[in-house]
Amino acid sequence: MPSCDTLIRNAAVFDGSGKDPEAADVALKDGRILALGAALPYTAESTLDARGLALAPGFIDVHTHDDTIVLRAPEMLPKLSQGVTTVIVGNCGISASPVTLHGPVPDPMNLLGGAEEFHFPTFATYKDAVHAAKPAVNVAALVGHTALRANHLDRLDRAAAPSEVTAMRAQLFEALENGALGLSTGLAYGNARAATTEEVLTLAEPLAAAGALYVTHMRTETEKILEAMEETFAIGRGSRVPVVISHLKCAGIANWGRSEEVLHALEVARGKQQAGCDCYPYAAGSSTLDLGQVDDRVEITITWSEPHPEVAGNSLGQIAELWEVTQLEAAKRLQPAGAIYHSISEEDMRRILAHPATMIGSDGLPLDPRPHPRLWGTFPRVLGRYSRDEKLFSMAAAIHKMTAMPAQRFGLERRGRVEMGYHADLVLFDPKTIIDRATFAEPAQAAAGINGVWVNGVLSYTANGATEQRAGQFLSRGQTAWIQ
Ligand code: ZN
Ligand code: CU
Repeated sequence: MPSCDTLIRNAAVFDGSGKDPEAADVALKDGRILALGAALPYTAESTLDARGLALAPGFIDVHTHDDTIVLRAPEMLPKLSQGVTTVIVGNCGISASPVTLHGPVPDPMNLLGGAEEFHFPTFATYKDAVHAAKPAVNVAALVGHTALRANHLDRLDRAAAPSEVTAMRAQLFEALENGALGLSTGLAYGNARAATTEEVLTLAEPLAAAGALYVTHMRTETEKILEAMEETFAIGRGSRVPVVISHLKCAGIANWGRSEEVLHALEVARGKQQAGCDCYPYAAGSSTLDLGQVDDRVEITITWSEPHPEVAGNSLGQIAELWEVTQLEAAKRLQPAGAIYHSISEEDMRRILAHPATMIGSDGLPLDPRPHPRLWGTFPRVLGRYSRDEKLFSMAAAIHKMTAMPAQRFGLERRGRVEMGYHADLVLFDPKTIIDRATFAEPAQAAAGINGVWVNGVLSYTANGATEQRAGQFLSRGQTAWIQ
């Protein structure tokens, strides 16, 4: 009998395509899927009976800010414990590389850490650091527009001059040559807001030839969201690249109920160009504390504050009351700070989550001392709560959104499917019990129902926790095959 490293018997296999599961054995060898089928005739170093359990491609977290945590805490427990085997870093216009700081860390790059974390003047140096750290999950990276601006502009409240855009573009080019997936922007943030559409379009020029894509935290997610979407689509058409709208939502109470309109605009664009989005399964967002989002009707929890660490965990309303000032004044005194905004309608979020163009991205903030629960809970919550319990979509459809769809869109070659020859990134879970346990009160909780996680064929997590074998790789951009 031929031999393999690991043989998983009798699992209900979701192949990632969106098809219903089929009972099969899966044999792993040298980090790849060697064979797949009924009653496979292999001897194995390790065999496990997975009857009653589901086997899926490892989940791909398309929207993360894990740039520096993969180096600092390479165990990556918040992600591995959810069945995530690949994280895409560099979202929202901020990335750890290529960065050369000329002063304090600009907002929101501070979500990635203090000045000491930014020591990657080129993308290649970051890639080497990931190799050396050997995190437990695979890492693929976008390049942040705000990071490039900070490298070349003396001040960030203005548009870049043509010579500055040329310098930024040279850095983007270096990153693409070294396997970056594409360019991200965070045009809603103060330090990128002054960038014109033209600046982004000129910068984005090398993406098309590289087969890379454009990912954006749009200029606004509130009242003028349709205009922001139009800008996004125009950049995609102008650069001839696919676009991904990050954490698509209708933010702010005045904007609730507009998800149908927003999704309609996305569908119209999808008739003309390659476009999609990602979404996290919560009715609350989180980032640095933005004075523009302070609204007495919205509950805002402060997660950290540099001048006032003692108030972390309290609501902005409580803090304002204690200090006898307005919420806006309190927010000013807390800066720089982090916040969770309960400013999304559950109904809108569900509609966006369920849309066929939507992938899953946690947007988790790993350095936050009181992180939004999405950091630990996103993927099991989509599967357990929104698919199994609430039947918003089938489990096969949910798994497709987190596996084959992102792998093909971002060019993660031979990932995202359970198929012969594919990399053995796999998650074994119990479809009856999988659920997130992280809450706003207790956010650092591993999910329930995850029985095994293999990264490049190496068993990295079991129901008993991490195995402490870390087998993640840096994934360079491969051939994309956009799934519309
Ligand atoms: Zn963002
Ligand atoms: Cu983000």
